[in-house]
Amino acid sequence: MVIIKARKLTKYFGQICAVDNVDFDIEKGVCFGFLGPNGAGKTTIMRMFYCIVAPTAGHIEIMGMDIKRHASKIKSKIGVMPQDNNLDLELSAFKNLIVYGRYFEIPYKISKRLAYDLLDYVGLTEKAHENIRNLSGGMQRALLLARAIINSPEILILDEPTTGLDPHSRHNVWHKLKDLKEKDTTLILTTHYMEEAEKLCDKVAIMDRGKIIIIDTPKHLMETYGGNLEDVYLKLTGKKLKGEENNNNNEY
Ligand SMILES: Nc1ncnc2c1ncn2[C@@H]1O[C@H](COP(=O)(O)OP(=O)(O)O)[C@@H](O)[C@H]1O
Ligand SMILES: [Mg+2]
Repeated sequence: MVIIKARKLTKYFGQICAVDNVDFDIEKGVCFGFLGPNGAGKTTIMRMFYCIVAPTAGHIEIMGMDIKRHASKIKSKIGVMPQDNNLDLELSAFKNLIVYGRYFEIPYKISKRLAYDLLDYVGLTEKAHENIRNLSGGMQRALLLARAIINSPEILILDEPTTGLDPHSRHNVWHKLKDLKEKDTTLILTTHYMEEAEKLCDKVAIMDRGKIIIIDTPKHLMETYGGNLEDVYLKLTGKKLKGEENNNNNEY
C-alpha cells in the first residue's frame, strides 16, 4: 500500500528551484531514504511532508489525504525529527516532551507517563530533569527522537538523524529505528552516510539539484552500478563534477 504519493512536486524559493518536478511513491512500513549532496532538496521535501512548506506546483498525498487540505490531520499522524536541533534549551528533557505533547492535545497525566517511558526508551531516564544544555549532542539527538514519537506516529520523518553523532550514539539510533520499523512505522530519512542508508533503507531516492536521479533498492543499485552504495552514489551524483573539469563554468 502506498502511504505517500508525490506527483510533479516542485518548490521554488524565489528564483531557486529547490525541488524540480519529482514523482515518487513510498510504501507503508518501509524505510525510504532520500540521499544527495547539500542543497539537493532533501529537507525541502521533508518539510513539505509535514506541511510547513507548501509546494509551488504538483501535489503530495499522505495516507490518501492531500497536504493542502488536510494538513492538521496529517500532522497528527506524523513524527518529525528535524535536521536542526529545535529543543527548548531553557527546559529540562522531561519538560521538552511535555510541552511537545501539548501540540497533540495529549492530557498531562498521559503525557507525563509517556515522557518517562520515552526517556527510558532512549536511555535518558537519569537526565530527565537535567537542563538540555547539560546534555551531550548525542543525548539531544536521542531526545529529539523520543519527542518525534510521542504521538505514536504512523510515519516518522528523520532529517539527518545521525549527523555529527559518535559511532556509539549512531548505533543506538539505528537500533531504535529498526525497532520502530518492526512496529510497522514507515520511516523516511535523509542521510549523508551511505553505510546508514545501506543498513536501514529498503529503497532510496538519489537526488541532485532538486531532481531525483533514480529510485531503487540499495541491493539492485549495487548490482547494477557495482561497488557499495557509496560507490553508486558517487557515480550517480559525481558525474557533473567530472564534466565540469572540461569547462570553465565551474560554479564551485
Ligand atoms: N527557506 C528557504 N529560503 C530560500 N532558499 C531555501 C530555503 N530552504 C531551502 N532553500 C534552498 O533550496 C535548496 C535546497 O535546500 P535543502 O532542501 O535544504 O537541501 P538539502 O536538505 O538537500 O541540503 C538550496 O539551494 C537551499 O539554499
Ligand atoms: Mg537538509
